[in-house]
Amino acid sequence: MLAAFATRISPDDPLSALTVGERPAPDVPEGWARVRVKAASLNHHDLWSLRGVGLPEDRLPMILGCDAAGLDDDGNEVVVHAVIGDPAWQGDETLDPRRSLLSERHQGTLADEVVVPRRNLVPKPAELSFEEAACLPTAWLTAYRMLFTQADLAPGATVLVQGAGGGVATALIALGRAAGLRVWATSRDEEKRAKALELGADQAFESGARLPERVDAVMETVGAATWSHSLKSLRQGGTVVISGATSGPNPKATELNRIFFLQLRIHGSTMGTRDELDRLVRFLRATGVRPLIDGVMPLEDAAKGFERMAAGDVLGKIVFTRP
Ligand SMILES: NC(=O)c1ccc[n+]([C@@H]2O[C@H](COP(=O)([O-])OP(=O)(O)OC[C@H]3O[C@@H](n4cnc5c(N)ncnc54)[C@H](OP(=O)(O)O)[C@@H]3O)[C@@H](O)[C@H]2O)c1
Repeated sequence: MLAAFATRISPDDPLSALTVGERPAPDVPEGWARVRVKAASLNHHDLWSLRGVGLPEDRLPMILGCDAAGLDDDGNEVVVHAVIGDPAWQGDETLDPRRSLLSERHQGTLADEVVVPRRNLVPKPAELSFEEAACLPTAWLTAYRMLFTQADLAPGATVLVQGAGGGVATALIALGRAAGLRVWATSRDEEKRAKALELGADQAFESGARLPERVDAVMETVGAATWSHSLKSLRQGGTVVISGATSGPNPKATELNRIFFLQLRIHGSTMGTRDELDRLVRFLRATGVRPLIDGVMPLEDAAKGFERMAAGDVLGKIVFTRP
């Protein structure tokens, strides 16, 4: 079957480690289900994998991709939850110390077929296209958990989203708006700031700009480049939720005195549970909100999508399709 996979690890030139070609179709273990992939979306995670983050050399070749929507063997339309937990684990799967994401230990979704534990399948409603549904399991689920579980924001609260153009960031803006939050966003790029406003942000600012007032919460995925601004933008007792560090994990200053003096809360966040994915799907059905898709291309052209993400030239999600 066709797949996009890592054949080696390259911390400095991740695109050179990507192969788009043939891999054997997967066997289906007892209790698992096969999904014929109709659409799969690209995440920054896939670039990190090619750089060797979370993917050691001895697991290669590894099919990349966390997100998919497709058909199970009974012809049901499904969305794939990418968090693979220990079967014995009870409760929130993201807290299972043995959990992994698809493409870390188990072959990923950028392929004709993927196999996952049967409980990882969530019904796909007919009103979501396969392309839209394929955006949900990583970027959109992460955004949902950041806003509504970790920050626990109530309608009317003000939230700042850093790095407006990203897959997670566009989801944060659209979901936040639909939930009645006042959403402010930053971006280095004028076009992305304009898009943030179209998506529902109340105001968009240049990265690092002084805000009109301090906010209740900041959603961070950029990391070192925006960390100081995130802390300075929070009101006393405000919350920063961080789920990524694209620009690096070590900010110049961690500003510990600001954190304790203003009693700031710092909340890490990773992916989301199957139940949260189910609720996210229902939220989209109820509100009519849909993922912002930057581009759709056949899986054969996956290298082009990876190149655009590596260049930071993405506004929303890139989706790969299969016939
Ligand atoms: N913990 C989890 O479960 C989880 C889940 C999903 C994603 N993540 C992580 O979250 C991050 C974002 O993921 P994504 O898929 O949304 O990636 P993405 O689509 O590639 O995000 C790109 C955005 O990051 C911002 N950015 C990148 N470098 C920057 C810099 N030096 N300074 C300022 N902004 C910068 C850009 O904002 P502007 O150009 O608009 O300024 C850009 O729009 C990644 O690191 C990813 O690994 C984690």
